Amino acid sequence: MNSTDQMELFVVCSSGLEELVQKEMEELGVKVVRQGHRGVYVTGTLRDLYRINYCSRLASRVLLPLKEERCAGKEELYRLGMQIDWTKYMTPDQTFAIDCNGYHPEFSNKLYAAQVLKDALCDQMREKYGRRPSVDTARPNVQLNLHLHEHRVTVSVDTSGQPLHKRGYRKITGPAPLQETMAAALLTMAGYDGKQTFLDPCCGSGTLLVEAAMIATRTPPGYLRRHWGFFALPFHNDFLWKEVRIQVNKGRRVLQDGKISGMEISPRVLQECKANLRSAGFEDGVHLIQGDFDQLEPKFPPNLVLCNPPHGRRLGEERALIPFYGKIGDFLKRKVEKPGKGFIFTSSPLLSRKVGLRSQRRHVVSNCGVESRLLEFDLY
Ligand SMILES: C[S@@+](CC[C@H](N)C(=O)[O-])C[C@H]1O[C@@H](n2cnc3c(N)ncnc32)[C@H](O)[C@@H]1O
Repeated sequence: MNSTDQMELFVVCSSGLEELVQKEMEELGVKVVRQGHRGVYVTGTLRDLYRINYCSRLASRVLLPLKEERCAGKEELYRLGMQIDWTKYMTPDQTFAIDCNGYHPEFSNKLYAAQVLKDALCDQMREKYGRRPSVDTARPNVQLNLHLHEHRVTVSVDTSGQPLHKRGYRKITGPAPLQETMAAALLTMAGYDGKQTFLDPCCGSGTLLVEAAMIATRTPPGYLRRHWGFFALPFHNDFLWKEVRIQVNKGRRVLQDGKISGMEISPRVLQECKANLRSAGFEDGVHLIQGDFDQLEPKFPPNLVLCNPPHGRRLGEERALIPFYGKIGDFLKRKVEKPGKGFIFTSSPLLSRKVGLRSQRRHVVSNCGVESRLLEFDLY
């Protein structure tokens, strides 16, 4: 494959984010073919593949589909696996792993489906080279993806390797942290572009703060990542990859003081937040206060507040949080500079109704498989 050859790629995301990912791809100058379920089909060159992996804040992986076909069961999956020329994507001395997801009535056990594909791959390699690549599920050179969809299967190379929410800055995980890609998606839905004065009053381990700082400083989300799935592919071009990174990194700028703040009641969690900000390189630019947001005065009055407060797993816990959501509503009314915007992200329909403000819009997304809403409040 040459660096100018066009490839079809599938940019994977959480359900509900397809529209935003399409827009993000267009902003990156990548040609969108169509939206799919939990992702967007695009065409692009090797340079685009690198740019999407490095710059997409919302995508969870970038797949290179090798084959998509109807498949009745075991024999057909094996045959399909034999039809792929694996020598284009790996050598017998590399390791690989197959991640299998989706649903197929003949494969209630996804591990079994992955095993059938693995057998085809290994048999073909053994025929060609007299030896086969080994499986390494922990740190494979080449990560493959087998997606089952009713009676159709898609076999892809995962060019990202580790999922893209693993930015490389998270050192410690607080209680119920947001996934980095979801935090970036919420900020995008809130229209955050780095110009607003942003506050997260329940900041936890600081995912929204770090993602906001990355957006404000135009830092690519892959800036701190050291390993990528495409490194092991035979057509990887290290010179082009470096060129892409240098070009993107040129757009980085300094974080203005006072533009991003966080509040957190737990001193221990606040330390975790500090550790994450430090490893992301934003320790000095982001202002943190420890305490109950209800009792605190923001040093830099925000015109954008976004948070994912505790939402309670069981009904009793949920009910106990009703006064808490009322306090967040009061906080939005009293502490946000007018005109401003407030956003609350929650999976609880009960608590959504207890904020004491009428939401103008509700953005529905799936957060780790749980239907959740970003409630939007216009504050005058
Ligand atoms: C769901 S977590 C937020 C997770 C965060 N977005 C992250 O990615 O790590 C909610 C956080 O709110 C904090 N919290 C609860 N009550 C609070 C209060 N009254 N004032 C400030 N923070 C509070 C909790 O300690 C917890 O860390």
